[in-house]
Amino acid sequence: MDQASLLRSFELEFRVAKNPALFESLLHRIFTLSSEIISITTFEEGLCLYANDAFFEVVGFRREDIIGRTFDLWANPSDRKELVLMLKERGTVRNFESDFLDEAGNIHHALLNLQCVEILGVQCILTVARDITKDRVQMKESLHIELLDDLRQALKSLPNLVFRLEKDENGMLVYTLSEGKIAEAMGLTTEAIYGRTVPELFPPEIYAVAEPHIRRALNGEHTEFEIEVGGVVLHKLMSPYYENDRIKGVVGAAIDITEKRKLETLLQRSEMSSVLGQLAAGAAHEIRNPLTAIKGFVQLAGELFDRSGNAKGREYIDMAMAELSRVNGLVTEMLWLRKPKEIRYEPVSVPKLLQEMVPLLHVEANIKSIQVLLHMEDVPDIMAKSDLLKQVVLNLCKNGIEAMNEGGSLHLSSWSAGGKVFVGIRDTGPGIPAELQGQLFTPFLTTKPTGNGLGLFICKQIVQDMNGDIQIESSPQGTAATLSFPAAPA
Ligand SMILES: Nc1ncnc2c1ncn2[C@@H]1O[C@H](COP(=O)(O)OP(=O)(O)O)[C@@H](O)[C@H]1O
Ligand SMILES: [Mg+2]
Repeated sequence: MDQASLLRSFELEFRVAKNPALFESLLHRIFTLSSEIISITTFEEGLCLYANDAFFEVVGFRREDIIGRTFDLWANPSDRKELVLMLKERGTVRNFESDFLDEAGNIHHALLNLQCVEILGVQCILTVARDITKDRVQMKESLHIELLDDLRQALKSLPNLVFRLEKDENGMLVYTLSEGKIAEAMGLTTEAIYGRTVPELFPPEIYAVAEPHIRRALNGEHTEFEIEVGGVVLHKLMSPYYENDRIKGVVGAAIDITEKRKLETLLQRSEMSSVLGQLAAGAAHEIRNPLTAIKGFVQLAGELFDRSGNAKGREYIDMAMAELSRVNGLVTEMLWLRKPKEIRYEPVSVPKLLQEMVPLLHVEANIKSIQVLLHMEDVPDIMAKSDLLKQVVLNLCKNGIEAMNEGGSLHLSSWSAGGKVFVGIRDTGPGIPAELQGQLFTPFLTTKPTGNGLGLFICKQIVQDMNGDIQIESSPQGTAATLSFPAAPA
């Protein structure tokens, strides 16, 4: 028979005539060969009429335990009820996932396809099931690996440190995990330190701090502490690490609080500055009155010496007066630190204020043949108190003039940008020594024989009180102080 007529005959016998002999011989083979689990049970009683080879291979049991009997392999009995309902409604169910138990009691996960069929006048269910337990395990495994990978990747990109210490077979506590940006920066990644102990990796003083916390975590406590490792301040958390309800080690995390600590110190310092300022101003106020009296009495004593022609006495008096006027100067400056509670800020024109100051500056500048130059842009007003602002500018100009020895120039400027008004005071002096630059605004810091080191400190207090800011940049070519203030609302 040629191929075309073979195909035609097959179609005719199989599909059209449904030749029972052909069907039987093929179907039986299909059932036998199939790796799908096939069974036929009666709808009502669940009596098993047929089960194929795959059924017995997967499910177990002997033929006589299954055929002609009702059996219940459902891991979740509610599945059967649900399926019966669905079959009653639709006559067929596709891809129903369910768990069943084999003879040994193992759970299998299966994908079920069911169909109602009438066999010899009795309603039956034809079930074709596929055991997908293995697929599922494989899927779980690959998911597990993927998840682990993901997790490690996530841990690696954390800005923190995450670590785990576990007891090894000798009972030694060793690192089994250490990830995160901190670990990376410190060269303490899992790869680098796996299997090593804390005292192996860190100097004794660090181990001494950590050890009591490790012990507490091993005792089931959660603990927190701060520790400095290689210039980095870490806030660490440690907790017990459980496996099967038993403590197997310690898990922990850490964040870098170096910057936070620095900021806190700065804040404390600036708070201290303002307290110090208040104290200084208070003291200055108290000193001023007796000082005035002392000056008066010293002057009187001087006159007495003059009258009696006591030259030595006059000399002493002059020295005392010079010292007194120094104290007076200091006290006057300290009074600028008074918290300007009662001060009301009002719109001030910076260019106008600078212009007004020029004659004052010329006096001192001329003596040292220093030029005073103005560069002024039209700028919005700022909210300030002009007396106080003049004091600030004056202090900065004085520093500039004092720094310049053989001529030079002092530049005063104003400009505005981004809603802010800037005031610049720049000199062409030798600059500020590098070691001073970090602490310029500290009170009583001075390099001048008759300086008091309050100038910049006071400037900062005043400017900050006006919501402004002060920056000082310096190089061997000169120093530039820049004040910035928010523009007053129009
Ligand atoms: N324009 C400047 N050029 C060089 N050094 C400066 C300048 N401004 C400030 N300094 C340095 O900062 C120190 C502190 O200044 P300041 O607080 O005004 O106190 P004082 O002027 O009484 O010394 C000065 O002693 C000086 O060493
Ligand atoms: Mg000064």
